[in-house]
Amino acid sequence: MSVLPNFPNMFSLEGKTALVTGGSRGLGLHMATAFLLAGCSLVVITARKLEGEQGINQAVDKLNKLAGIKGKAVGIAANVADSEGIVKLVGQVKDLVGETGLSIVVCNAGAAWGSKFEDAPPSSSIKILDLNVRGVFELVQKTLPLLEKAGTKLDPSRVLIISSTAGTNVPHVGEHGTIMYSASKAAAHHLGRNLAVELGPRNITSNIIAPGFFPSKLAQGLISNLGGIEGLSKDNPMGRLGEPEDIAGVAVFLCSLAGKYLNGVDLSVDGGARLSVGRLSKL
Ligand SMILES: NC(=O)c1ccc[n+]([C@@H]2O[C@H](COP(=O)([O-])OP(=O)(O)OC[C@H]3O[C@@H](n4cnc5c(N)ncnc54)[C@H](OP(=O)(O)O)[C@@H]3O)[C@@H](O)[C@H]2O)c1
Repeated sequence: MSVLPNFPNMFSLEGKTALVTGGSRGLGLHMATAFLLAGCSLVVITARKLEGEQGINQAVDKLNKLAGIKGKAVGIAANVADSEGIVKLVGQVKDLVGETGLSIVVCNAGAAWGSKFEDAPPSSSIKILDLNVRGVFELVQKTLPLLEKAGTKLDPSRVLIISSTAGTNVPHVGEHGTIMYSASKAAAHHLGRNLAVELGPRNITSNIIAPGFFPSKLAQGLISNLGGIEGLSKDNPMGRLGEPEDIAGVAVFLCSLAGKYLNGVDLSVDGGARLSVGRLSKL
């Protein structure tokens, strides 16, 4: 007989503490919601805007009204593309988590740019690389003492890097090309693999989630340029784009006991769209 003593709690995040960047909307808010529903005692979300329809405050209000949660959400305004902003944020997170430490860091905030190759200004590359790559490196570096505090050999702390399937394929060139975005996400994938080897011995796993298209503010321009939700759904083997539960489930799995031995993997959450180029063949 096989003995699975932890099975009843395998997908629970009971008592864990999490930091989710870009948690005010989109994929970050879906994951923050799931973490609270799965039992986290504290979920800190961060973004630049505090007020307004898309600001942190409205997201924190919604999170704290979730039915049945035992934990709470706290919002902190921070720019995670900025070194000083990261240090300040981590100081505030340290005050909140205290001796418990930080069990989960989700590096989700991201920037994109779409234009003809010739038209991309230097500022677009700087913005993308600062947030999608350098900011991720520095956030994990600065949260390391807090992650080390919370992780154990049998239940390590978790780093999730939200990259993109654009990090492994070449999704868009030409009129609405996303070349530097794609290159930044390839770097994010490889940063995650390096962190897996660097931090594994310190009881921290690092994994990469690579979403395909999920309707969001960041993706809406590209989605409409590529034929809208309906058009893109037809190109997807599963006949649809990503939905909140698709990303939420994978994030909870990677942060739960069920995912404790995964380190340095990238999971594409795209319904298989990255593989479906053959279906579009004109032969
Ligand atoms: N949606 C998709 O189809 C898709 C596909 C592949 C990969 N992804 C990746 O998924 C991640 C989330 O994207 P999303 O689609 O959910 O985007 P989104 O809805 O536009 O949300 C982006 C979040 O990041 C925050 N943010 C942006 N710049 C920031 C900065 N410098 N510092 C702190 N927070 C910042 C935004 O808030 P503020 O503007 O207030 O700062 C917001 O909370 C990104 O890394 C993206 O590349 C998304």
